Amino acid sequence: MRDLTMSDELLTIRCRENGPFVLPAKFVLVDHLGNAFPLPVGKENVALCRCGASKNKPFCDGSHKTCGFDGAQTAPVSAQSASDA
Ligand code: FES
Repeated sequence: MRDLTMSDELLTIRCRENGPFVLPAKFVLVDHLGNAFPLPVGKENVALCRCGASKNKPFCDGSHKTCGFDGAQTAPVSAQSASDA
């Protein structure tokens, strides 16, 4: 496992409209037993499924495009935007 240290930099996770969560590929994702999922190699960002239809969970495989996933919700307007962080 790579040695990653904590940073004070705030992580931004983007919700794609009707699609996955997208975040920089600088994290370790472990299963319920603590085993790390291998992240896609050579990718700057990783997409995590939020529709539940991916055959490659926890990663997005594009199935959200055909499963009718409705994920167009937006954050409250009063919430601090990522650009203000
Ligand atoms: S969000 Fe893309 S397959 Fe689920």
